[in-house]
Amino acid sequence: MAKIVDIINKAETTHSLTKEEIVDLLRCDEYDQQLFLAADRVRSQYVGDQVHLRGLIEFSNICQQNCFYCGLRKENTKVKRYKLTPDTIIDLADKAKSYNYKTVVLQSGESQSYTVADMQYIIRSIKALGLAITLSLGEKSRDEYQFYKEAGADRYLLRIETTNSRIYKELHPGMSFENRLRCLQDLKDLGYELGTGCLVGLPNQTMECLADDILFFKSLDADMIGLGPFIPNADTPLAQERGGTFNTSIKVMAITRLLLPDANIPATTAMETLDKNGRIIALQSGANVVMPNVTEGEYRKMYMLYPGKICVNDTPKHCVSCITGKIQGIGRHISTEFGFRQSKKLTNNLQEYAEKERNM
Ligand code: SAM
Ligand code: SF4
Ligand code: FES
Repeated sequence: MAKIVDIINKAETTHSLTKEEIVDLLRCDEYDQQLFLAADRVRSQYVGDQVHLRGLIEFSNICQQNCFYCGLRKENTKVKRYKLTPDTIIDLADKAKSYNYKTVVLQSGESQSYTVADMQYIIRSIKALGLAITLSLGEKSRDEYQFYKEAGADRYLLRIETTNSRIYKELHPGMSFENRLRCLQDLKDLGYELGTGCLVGLPNQTMECLADDILFFKSLDADMIGLGPFIPNADTPLAQERGGTFNTSIKVMAITRLLLPDANIPATTAMETLDKNGRIIALQSGANVVMPNVTEGEYRKMYMLYPGKICVNDTPKHCVSCITGKIQGIGRHISTEFGFRQSKKLTNNLQEYAEKERNM
């Protein structure tokens, strides 16, 4: 089917596809290798061979939401809840620095268990270490996002999860799709580097839905796009679902790279959960970021979104040497920069980027 090859060529040269073309690509598996190679070439051309490592600190599993797919949902009483103290979080960030990570990602369930003042203290203290900070705390008010930006946070990850508002509604009791969009817009307006993404393989999600998700990332001009398979968790309402496949997740990621050539795209943990070489395959199919876990001890096991999560019995020190070896093993190298998005669209954006790197 020459048509699929033509679509891949079009995506590689114009970075633009129609919804129908994306659906055709997702439906046909015969040319997957060509798709992955094209995404790898675009990754190399736009963001280079360096891989940015972001140290992930899962600082609390307390959550007030009830997302149907997630093991941390409030109604899952099997989870032992924890929250690290502000000074423990800062200490973990300091350790991340000692492993040469340039960014820490502070991630938690959505809750009010830390005050705004707590979070400002954490952010300011980590900034003083000379690290870039990505937050992933869920939905907050615009004011709260603003306070954290002013305290020094650089980036924010908030996946849209699915752009199909009907599926979104079904899976997120008590939440609204409109508020999710409001949060993303506020974060963008406030000057955060904006990360979003989706789950692949949600119940009732079609290839058309996934095509809409990819086009949404492009219309938002997201700086980071994190996506991975939905992996069913036995302690959630979606326990009996089939979940997403590794191959479809990698395809969605590769098409995303073709359409957003200069975005930062992580090889996600969920991908490695489904395939023991998942992150490396992702890095060879369009990804340029890895987020190794720097959470310590028993907390890794307690932040159990889905079963089979990797690295739960490993130490941060082991993870850094493990992932570094794997990355070097495929001829790529670890970035020594902060890895802000290098927008290739405007010269002044590049200047802004250089300025940002200099000021860190
Ligand atoms: N609470 C914040 C939020 O929801 O944005 C941040 C933490 S949340 C655990 C991070 C991501 O985990 C979510 O955006 C979701 O896509 C992913 N996740 C949750 N449950 C999952 C599952 N069963 N399989 C794969 N990913 C999952
Ligand atoms: Fe809470 Fe985030 Fe899990 Fe939803 S995805 S239940 S907000 S931790
Ligand atoms: Fe944690 Fe390989 S990255 S063990």
